[in-house]
Amino acid sequence: MLRVTGLTSQFRGRAGVVRAIDDVTFEVPAGEAVGIVGETGSGKSVTIRSVLGLLPSYGKVVGGSAEFEGTDLVKLHRNRLREIRGARIGFVAQNPFGSLNPVLSIEKQFRNVMRAHRKISRTDLRDLAIERLESVQVRGPERVLRGFAHELSGGMAQRVVIALAMLHDPSLVIADEPTTALDVTVQRQILDLIDTQVKQGGRSLLLVTHDLGVVAQYCHRVVVMKSGKVVETGLVADVFTNPSHDYTRQLLAAVPPAPWAQAVPSLSGQEV
Ligand SMILES: Nc1ncnc2c1ncn2[C@@H]1O[C@H](COP(=O)(O)OP(=O)(O)OP(=O)(O)O)[C@@H](O)[C@H]1O
Ligand SMILES: [Mg+2]
Repeated sequence: MLRVTGLTSQFRGRAGVVRAIDDVTFEVPAGEAVGIVGETGSGKSVTIRSVLGLLPSYGKVVGGSAEFEGTDLVKLHRNRLREIRGARIGFVAQNPFGSLNPVLSIEKQFRNVMRAHRKISRTDLRDLAIERLESVQVRGPERVLRGFAHELSGGMAQRVVIALAMLHDPSLVIADEPTTALDVTVQRQILDLIDTQVKQGGRSLLLVTHDLGVVAQYCHRVVVMKSGKVVETGLVADVFTNPSHDYTRQLLAAVPPAPWAQAVPSLSGQEV
């Protein structure tokens, strides 16, 4: 589905050129969920932004490839990449209010996302938007469509972002810490929602998170990053029960025992 090979990116700054990620290699197999974990500044977001062509103007992919459905995204023209990003890859960022446009109604945003890839009548679009909002458990979808982002809670706004990301039935969903900006009480709901949307659509998932419990619960594979490099990658069950790298061991040791034991059935002997 997605094969990232030797991906290397850098930023140009006052202090010169800084390499943010170096020789990053991993795969997201079709129908599987892959988690990227690592401490702050380890290069998780830069990896995702490099794949999606979303680095700022002073950032650049200087090596490697990101093959998605047979196309190297790194070599694609911006416009073509934007098309793929909207249609084949759904992106959910950390802050829903950064993803939504504050001055356009939610309905208008559905229309814009739809129109970029497919022609559809206003009433059909409306029906589809309502159906999709219902599928992400947004109550009162008609009212939400008429309204604006600032009228929504963080959790509701992220549901809208997820509905928009799924509008074109993407085969891959990429989410960068999709819940860290949200109230703790809704974090699990949003993760469950992404998980459901991914599974129901037979999609693949690339999920960035700080939380190893989240990886254990939602992902098949894990990519562990440190200082811009991948230090370990493999099946969650293998890596978590038998980490080969010291850094992974440290990350695992830092996880509080209770949720951890709950999240990994093999360690607790209990069903999740
Ligand atoms: N816009 C930017 N300009 C300059 N350097 C950046 C920029 N974004 C990231 N970096 C640098 O690239 C490296 C990787 O950062 P990145 O944002 O990918 O970390 P991260 O793993 O996502 O961290 P966090 O968990 O805090 O989100 C860091 O050294 C960071 O300082
Ligand atoms: Mg980040």
